[in-house]
Amino acid sequence: MAAKENQLNHLAIIMDGNGRWAKARKQPRFFGHQAGMENVERITLAANHLGIKVLTLYAFSTENWARPKAEVAYLMNLPVRFFDKFMPTLMANQVKVNVMGDLTQLPAKTRQVVERAMADTAANTGLVLNFAFNYGARKEIVGAVQTLARAVQAGRLAPEDIAEQDVGQALMTAKFGPYRNPDLLIRTSGEQRLSNFLLWQLAYAELAFSDKLWPDFDEQDLMEFVTNYQGRHRRFGKIDESDS
Ligand code: IPE
Ligand code: IPE
Ligand code: MG
Repeated sequence: MAAKENQLNHLAIIMDGNGRWAKARKQPRFFGHQAGMENVERITLAANHLGIKVLTLYAFSTENWARPKAEVAYLMNLPVRFFDKFMPTLMANQVKVNVMGDLTQLPAKTRQVVERAMADTAANTGLVLNFAFNYGARKEIVGAVQTLARAVQAGRLAPEDIAEQDVGQALMTAKFGPYRNPDLLIRTSGEQRLSNFLLWQLAYAELAFSDKLWPDFDEQDLMEFVTNYQGRHRRFGKIDESDS
């Protein structure tokens, strides 16, 4: 029996390797972040054309605050430059922007810009471009636990009734409904770890790793990973029908 092709609805990418990309060119790290930002547009448009519904990009982790002050400042300003430059293209392609993470800790200007990007694109009907920015999965799960604890305290929920669905519903991805969990995770730059990204949501995702540094990862690479994903056999804990 021919394997049914997997539908790729939600693609998540850990965009890693900007610093090494710059270093290889004897340039400062921010040069790599600039190139990485430009690549976000390229991959977003390619994902849109492939019919992907949600593209989640890990752009800044809760651990990235520990980098040198100047680099953090540069990264905090990237959304300002990104939306300044690419908003017309995003609008023209019906891309809907979402930013998930603790926005309250962002510099005022950054927060303002991302909130405006979400508001301006709210009615768009194409790909959802979801940035994980000041995002950490453990922090997200702690937030979900607090939400559930409040519901219990208020008498709206009994502890023994807490189900997986309730946890999923309290996470920042809940708004993506049937597409809340990534089908495929790609990490660039050769590293093979999650770095505190979507720990709950990736439980059954297919994992793929590219040795390319993020600024070099192009549409062709994306196509190859998507094609490879479509040929994989996702079993979700079951056995093949033909084996039963
Ligand atoms: C990914 O590139 C971007 C962010 C984490 C913000 P890096 O900055 O981690 O680049 P490398 O891993 O040092 O090469
Ligand atoms: C993960 O990359 C975070 C982002 C891509 C935003 P890092 O470069 O911060 O991860 P580690 O430190 O190599 O685990
Ligand atoms: Mg890195």
